[in-house]
Amino acid sequence: MSEEEESVLPKKMKSQTIQTLHDTIDREWSALQRTACQTAAGRALWNHVIHDPVADVLAGESFLKSLREKISKDKLNNAREVSGVILAVRTLWFDSKLEAAIKSFGEGEAQVVLLGAGMDARAYRLSCLKESNVFEVDFAELLQIKASLMQEAMGSAEQQRKAMVAKSVTSVAADIRDGDWLEKLQVSGFAPEKSTVWLLEGILYYLPHLNAMEVLQTIAAKTLLTKTVLLADFMNESSASLSLSTYHFYSDWPDQLLEALGFPNIKLSQIGDPDANFGLLHDPQNLFNRLRSLPRSTKTNPEDGTPCRRLYLVEASGSPKQSI
Ligand SMILES: C[S@@+](CC[C@H](N)C(=O)[O-])C[C@H]1O[C@@H](n2cnc3c(N)ncnc32)[C@H](O)[C@@H]1O
Repeated sequence: MSEEEESVLPKKMKSQTIQTLHDTIDREWSALQRTACQTAAGRALWNHVIHDPVADVLAGESFLKSLREKISKDKLNNAREVSGVILAVRTLWFDSKLEAAIKSFGEGEAQVVLLGAGMDARAYRLSCLKESNVFEVDFAELLQIKASLMQEAMGSAEQQRKAMVAKSVTSVAADIRDGDWLEKLQVSGFAPEKSTVWLLEGILYYLPHLNAMEVLQTIAAKTLLTKTVLLADFMNESSASLSLSTYHFYSDWPDQLLEALGFPNIKLSQIGDPDANFGLLHDPQNLFNRLRSLPRSTKTNPEDGTPCRRLYLVEASGSPKQSI
């Protein structure tokens, strides 16, 4: 490690236990599981707009270093979009919609299910979750190491409990591609009749089409039972074709898809829209603002011939009253 890197690393990152845990991640986790650290690195390096005190520990040195280098290069080149801005906007969009959804439920307990939770630390950073039971669904090996990193970051189990903002956090080890994730969720204490926010951030496009559709259908069916809000990001076909080996599910019209599945209320936003820019995308000529000015049916940007790669942020909701 160079002296410069050593000096930018926060003290806690130098703990031997944290470094050993991250060595295991580098050695043993699949590329898919490591995307969890990439997104945490985004939150850690955009900490002037996202307050996530454990993001750096959860991300680990190698992911922080590689994103830090990209950001420096972008700044040097006066890039219109600085690396990580899309992650920052996405995180803030999910935060604000989650808060609004919980408010819309009114008094009482709510449930929040984070499918593909990765290194999400919302249960420790969002005060709107204080009456909510949070369920984090991800691969067993990821959740185990995350728990150890959290404990190390916070000092002790007792300090971790004190730092927790949510009413409870439950880890649910499951592969969403297997048919039993909902059962595992219920065995872990998820109550189907309670108002629920389903937060699917950076997960759907990693799932095969059949599994992604099964997840969306399962959540849509919950609108018949209780107040249900789904928050999810969707890649369009051009975005998913960037890496056919990594991305699978896509939808060019997720609003229509969710309507067909039975959600009565749907709002779709694109990065850069008034509810999805958070003052971070000033340049009208940046990629996201140029895309927004083109009809959604346009597949190729007429200005430069590049594919229109879009990320849609979608909020869909419903409740039994609306279904009658
Ligand atoms: C890009 S990360 C996003 C993590 C987190 N939602 C965030 O925004 O920071 C994708 C996450 O989905 C998880 N994931 C992908 N496929 C999964 C599957 N089949 N079952 C359970 N988790 C999965 C990965 O392990 C990883 O933690």
